[in-house]
Parts: sequence; C-alpha cells; structure tokens
Amino acid sequence: MFLSLDGIDGVGKSTQLKLLASQLERQGQQVVTCREPGSTQLGEAIRNILLNDWDTPMGGVSEMLLYMASRGQLVEEIIRPALQSGKTVIADRYLLASVVYQGHGRSLEPQAIWDVGRVATGTLLPDLTLVLDLPPEKAAARLGEPDRIEARGEAYRDKLRKGFLAEAERQPEKIKIVDASGTEAEVAERIWCEVEALQASKTGE
Ligand code: TYD
Repeated sequence: MFLSLDGIDGVGKSTQLKLLASQLERQGQQVVTCREPGSTQLGEAIRNILLNDWDTPMGGVSEMLLYMASRGQLVEEIIRPALQSGKTVIADRYLLASVVYQGHGRSLEPQAIWDVGRVATGTLLPDLTLVLDLPPEKAAARLGEPDRIEARGEAYRDKLRKGFLAEAERQPEKIKIVDASGTEAEVAERIWCEVEALQASKTGE
C-alpha cells in the first residue's frame, strides 16, 4: 500500500504521519516513511537549495523541476523497492504538493505538473492521498521560523488550500480531505477511518 499525507504548512502532517505509521505497524505491516523534498542524498541536497538557500533566485519552472528531481530519485531509491518487497510506504508529501504549491499557488498549469510528474515518478502514484485541512490562519499559528516557501504569506496559503480542495474534488477516490481541527487523537482517528476503508476495498478486489 502506498499512502501520502499532504496539506498546507502547519496542519500537523508530520505528527500524524508518525501516528499512522505506528498504527499500521501494530497491524503487523512493515512501514517505510519518507519526506519530500529529501530522504535520499540527492533529495536532501535539493531540499537545502529549495528551502534554506535564500540567495539563489529561482523561477517557478526551475522550482517545480527541482522538486521533481528529488521525487524521481526518491521513487527509484526508496519507494519502488519498498513496495516491491511488500512494505507499506507513507510519503510526507508527493506529487500533489507540486501541483498545488507550484501550480495553484504560483503560475504553472496544474495539468502540466501532473504530466511532468508522470515522467518523474514513472507513473507511480499513491493508492490514497490524505490532505489535512485547516483554515490558513489556524495552520500559520502552529508554524515556527518560516522557510523560503512558508515565507510567502497568507494570500499564498489561501490559494494552496483552495488548490488542495479543487484537486480532491477532481479525484475524490484518490484524494481525501481530512479535517485537521481538534486533538491529535481525533485527527488520527479520521485518518484511520480512510485507511481502513481503503484496506477493505483492496481486500474486496
Ligand atoms: P514540509 O513537508 O512542510 O517540510 P517541513 O515540515 O520539514 O518544513 O515541506 C517543505 C516545503 O516544501 C513546504 O513549504 C511545501 C513545499 N513543497 C512544494 O512547494 N512543492 C513540493 O512539491 C513539495 C513536496 C513541497
């Protein structure tokens, strides 16, 4: 099973990823987690350029392709081998993040990003993407010192949230919106319901 978690910055994605991984392990599954951009040596170097190197000017297309380069390496080095050996993979962000952050959030055509993503991932897409959803002002309140992307501000975050909602509407089977308000345990329970529904549908196949 290949799952990914996504959403605007500050929704609690990393905490929920850990909780979901433990829950799946309790079920007896072997779980591999990864984050984007990063997880491989190349990916971490690209992450540094994208998020911490404020001095390098970067246009929208270059930004999108750098995320794709990190993702291509991640698929080849980590995700595909893990799935082939029967493990469950949970990705902290995946292609949908590029469609939303570089497409809906900036000026690139979302469909063109899906197309580039097909090449970058060798058409490997998650069985299910869970998008944690919170109003941008609530999510921003949870953030610490901003990185280059987070520093883009409120209007950008608003476009991102709308982008995630629009993509989920277009692919309701593959992208589920999960309400990220309330306690950690409440959000974890909502996520678990979606994962159980996916497991049930796979067993029924
Ligand atoms: P994030 O998961 O928020 O990392 P952390 O929690 O460690 O800060 O991801 C880093 C940033 O990169 C985040 O602001 C979203 C952005 N991003 C994109 O703009 N496009 C992408 O394709 C991906 C994967 C991330």
